[in-house]
Amino acid sequence: MEINMEKFKPVIKDYPHLLHGGDYNPDQWKKFPEVINDDMKFFGLAGVNTVSIGIFSWVEFEPEDGVYNFDFFDKIMDELAARGIKACFATPSAGKPAWISEKYPDILPVGANGVRARRGGRLGFCKSSPDFRRKIHDLNTELAKHYADHPALGMWHISNECCGVCFCDRCEAGFREWLKKKYKTLDKLNDEYWNGFWGHTYTSWDQIEAPKTEHSIHALTLDWGRYTNELLADYIAWEAEPLRKYTPNVPITTNMMQTVGIDYKKVAEKIDVVSWDSYPLWHSPNGGQLGAAISTAFWHDRFRAMSDKPFMLMECTPSLPSWSNVNKLKRPGMHKLASLQAIAHGSESVQYFQWRKSRGGFEKFHGAVIDHYGKADTRVFREVAEVGKTLAKLDAVVGTRTVSRVAIIHDTENSWAIDEMAGARKPKRYEGLCHKFYKPLWNMGIACDVIESNHSLDGYDLVIAPALYLASDETIDKLEKFVKRGGTLVSTYLTGWVDENDLCRLGGFPGGKLREVFGVWSEELDTLYDGESNKIKLDAKLDGLKDEYDIVEYCDLIHAEGARVLGHYTSDFYADEPCLTVNEYGEGRAYYIAFGNSGDFMNDLVRSLCSDMGIAPCMDTTFPEGVTATMRTDGERDYIFVQNYNDVPVEIRLDSEYEDLLNGGKLDGTLKLDKFGVQVLGRSVK
Ligand code: GLA
Ligand code: ZN
Repeated sequence: MEINMEKFKPVIKDYPHLLHGGDYNPDQWKKFPEVINDDMKFFGLAGVNTVSIGIFSWVEFEPEDGVYNFDFFDKIMDELAARGIKACFATPSAGKPAWISEKYPDILPVGANGVRARRGGRLGFCKSSPDFRRKIHDLNTELAKHYADHPALGMWHISNECCGVCFCDRCEAGFREWLKKKYKTLDKLNDEYWNGFWGHTYTSWDQIEAPKTEHSIHALTLDWGRYTNELLADYIAWEAEPLRKYTPNVPITTNMMQTVGIDYKKVAEKIDVVSWDSYPLWHSPNGGQLGAAISTAFWHDRFRAMSDKPFMLMECTPSLPSWSNVNKLKRPGMHKLASLQAIAHGSESVQYFQWRKSRGGFEKFHGAVIDHYGKADTRVFREVAEVGKTLAKLDAVVGTRTVSRVAIIHDTENSWAIDEMAGARKPKRYEGLCHKFYKPLWNMGIACDVIESNHSLDGYDLVIAPALYLASDETIDKLEKFVKRGGTLVSTYLTGWVDENDLCRLGGFPGGKLREVFGVWSEELDTLYDGESNKIKLDAKLDGLKDEYDIVEYCDLIHAEGARVLGHYTSDFYADEPCLTVNEYGEGRAYYIAFGNSGDFMNDLVRSLCSDMGIAPCMDTTFPEGVTATMRTDGERDYIFVQNYNDVPVEIRLDSEYEDLLNGGKLDGTLKLDKFGVQVLGRSVK
């Protein structure tokens, strides 16, 4: 397949720089003009070129219903423009004013217990409230018209981590309408929900409630998730509408979170650039360092693949959060490493929450660039300034791509269904299973897209779909075609059990065509208590694999129906039965891993498959544990970010001569990285 290598346009029009800055809340400091003056000076010292403003400023923009006042922010915008700094201007729905719920009490959401929330916190509004929608639409219209031609306006930032569900009568009525559209007849809905079980058959649409206390109809819970998710996406589109109308050239984002609670791909369709907020717990004990690095890389890859283009890191802390049980400082060097990790995986920005610590309020101790101390001579400020300086050297990276021949399917709806399902064992640890396959790719320096199941599989050679319990007909069809035309598919136990409405697939698991694709039938699934184990013994010598591996948690009892058996269980009543198979199907092959493993098996298998398939790392070298390299490219030049997450220095053998993009000059032979060290290398594509 021909891969388009053309660079993407910079996120902010005609602003071809990596963006650096963060949430800036000057309205909290209105009575301290000297602080605002300092901020403007410090922006320059820290290499800040983009700030998110207005996030919680509704009451500043609209102190009373229908009365708008932009004077304060006009001055801020002018100050920013004078310094060439861009505003990522937020619509302030996350910081709704107290007057709005005083005047329109039914904008407040209703909980699953039927009780309407009180004012307070943030967000906390019903997304189908006509009053709330009208008020935010009017305000966004005013903002868009007012700032349309302002030179500082770079982009729009809708709301802030917009989320939350509401169980009010209006939202519930909307749910019933959504169900009517989906199922057309009640009979069909009853069938799809298998409502004969426990006598749940509805005889009128009005009997259907949101899953407030009813958690036994899994398909209902799934549909509620889909409906509230669509409502969220629709709400974001509603907020975006006036912005698009009055500022058609200004891109729109909304900042997302590391969660599968929301199906963000639906939201991503409504905006121009995906952004997310990343708060890993660096430096936690027991190998947490590497875990944080891998999990963060995985999520960067997930947000990039959501729209198949560069994304933005909209928030991180330059030092520590305030909400964790133990709030640990980022060790010297870690901030630069984590920042360049984001860029390496496709981010066009490093933004903070927040620029200056709030003097009071809930997050007054959340790490910020400027501390309560108020000056720039701090360790954190110096580390931020170092990131600013570094990003300024990397303009060439803007708009470059990640090219992945490998994808891991980590699907949101599947995670909803698998967690909800009663059976197998608890907790299911679906994401952890995906990480086990991701880790070797990460360590080798092989690019991987982390995708939802409805993502196209074109362009991939290896697709890993762990525990894809919920697989729609379309997904099964796509996986089948992928293998048929030559792809390699790897799956595990708990694959293809239910369809999109959570109905079990009849005729044997893995369901539908998957049984033929894998050439196996799973007759039963056994699960093990913690501390129990089994083993797999390999029947054939596979390159790079050991003869035996420990098995934990899952033992899927499969029959090979055409697949070649590669390994078998060593104990229990299913000793000698197959537990690892490969099936030649069409031009491709499909591996079925019937057992659970702590990760060493996945590590060896993925390495072996990549080497066998010629899926090469971005550098021809072996990285020590805790080290990786991540590449972006424009087809003519490659940009390689080598990262050391160990708290000891490492040495890496370079496979050729590289340009040192951070210090200038050339690098050859051995690359030395300090503890938490990072280097950016350049090379021409041969
Ligand atoms: C989130 C929010 C921010 C702030 C940070 C830090 O990402 O978007 O407003 O609360 O967390 O906790
Ligand atoms: Zn509601």
